[in-house]
Amino acid sequence: MEIGVFLPIGNNGWLISETAPQYKPSFELNKQITMSAEKHGLDFVLTMIKLRGFGGKTEFWDHNLESFTLMAGLAACTSKIRLYATAASLVMPPAIVARMAATIDSISNGRFGVNLVTGWQKPEYTQMGMWPGDEFFGTRYKYLGEYAQVLRDLWETGKSDLKGEFFQMEDCRLSPQPQADMKVICAGSSDAGMEFSATYADYNFCFGKGVNTPTAFAPNAERLKEATAKTGRDVSTYALFMIIADETDEKARAKWDLYKEGADQEALSWLGLQSAADTTSGSDTNVRQMSDPVSAVNINMGTLVGSYETVAKMLDEVAEVPGTGGVLLTFDDFVQGVEDFGSKIQPLMACRKSVQVAEPA
Ligand SMILES: Cc1cc2nc3c(=O)[nH]c(=O)nc-3n(C[C@H](O)[C@H](O)[C@H](O)COP(=O)(O)O)c2cc1C
Repeated sequence: MEIGVFLPIGNNGWLISETAPQYKPSFELNKQITMSAEKHGLDFVLTMIKLRGFGGKTEFWDHNLESFTLMAGLAACTSKIRLYATAASLVMPPAIVARMAATIDSISNGRFGVNLVTGWQKPEYTQMGMWPGDEFFGTRYKYLGEYAQVLRDLWETGKSDLKGEFFQMEDCRLSPQPQADMKVICAGSSDAGMEFSATYADYNFCFGKGVNTPTAFAPNAERLKEATAKTGRDVSTYALFMIIADETDEKARAKWDLYKEGADQEALSWLGLQSAADTTSGSDTNVRQMSDPVSAVNINMGTLVGSYETVAKMLDEVAEVPGTGGVLLTFDDFVQGVEDFGSKIQPLMACRKSVQVAEPA
C-alpha cells in the first residue's frame, strides 16, 4: 500500500480547533515535511487548492499558498518522492495547466501528477467573479471531463482540437510533452465524480470514515469498482486519514479529546453552510460528510487515534480493503507526525515491509 502526505498548504492543516497546533503555511514548513517523508521512503505528497477560508477565531484556511507553485519548489529540492498539485479547473485554463504540469515534470524528472477538482465552495469563485452560476453544480463533471480530455490530448499527442460544450480548442499545442506518464487524481465521490474518475483518472481519493474504523470507506472503494467495470480502466482508491499517535492509546486519545473540546464553532458553521450549497450531487458526497457534527473538527476525514502499534495495525487493515492503492495522511503536528510515522509506525506495518529507507548520511 502506498503512503502519501496531504501537505499543510493552509494554516493549521486539517484541525479546525483553538486547542490544536496553530501555524501558518510556508515553503520552509512544507519543504521540511516533504524531505522527511522522502527520507522515510514515503511515496508521494499532495497539496490541495483552497482560495477562501472559513474564518472564525482560528481564521481557518484564510491563509493558503498556491498548489502548483509550491510543488514546483518542492520538486527542485527532492529526488525520489512523487508530487501532485491540484488544479482549480474553473479558474485555470487546461492548456495552461498542461504546460505548468509539463514544466514541473521537467523540474522533477517525471515525478509529477495533477489532482483535478471542480470546486464545491462557491465563495472561492464568486469573490473573483469566476462562478458560472449555480447550474454549474449540475454540470461540473461534464465540464471536468472536457477539461481532462484537453489535458490528456496535449500531454499524449502535443495537440488538442477538442470542440466541446465548454472548451473549443484550435490546433492548441504543447511542447515539450511530459517525459513520464502524467497521472491524474480525482477526489469525486458523487456518482458523477466516480464516473469521471472511472473514465479519466488513475486514482480516486476518498475520505476515510469514522474514528478508529479503518475499513469503513470500503463501500466507496466498491462504488469505484462498479464504475470502472463500465469503463474497463484500472483506477485505485486512496483513502484520507488523520493520524493522531503517541506512546500509548491513552496519550493519543487525550490529544484527540483536547482538539475536539477546542473546536472553532464559528469556522465550523461556515463549513456547514458551504457544504449544504450543492443540492444536486446526492447525499453521499465527501462534501456533505465534512460538516457532520460527529467529528467536524477535522472535517470528518477518518481518524486513527492510538499508540504507534495501534495505528500501524489499523493501517494494515486499510491495506486489506479490496481496490485500495494507498492512503493519504494528515497529522495534528505534521513535522513530528511524519517523523514518528517514518520511525515508529511504518516499521510495524506488515504492508510496508518492502520499503527501503536510506541509511542516515
Ligand atoms: C483528498 C481530497 C482532496 C481534495 N482536494 C480538493 C481541493 O484541493 N480543492 C477543492 O475544491 N476540493 C477538493 N476536494 C473535494 C473533491 O474534489 C470533491 O469535490 C469532493 O470530494 C466531493 O465529491 P463530488 O465533487 O463528487 O461531489 C478534495 C477531496 C479529497 C477527499
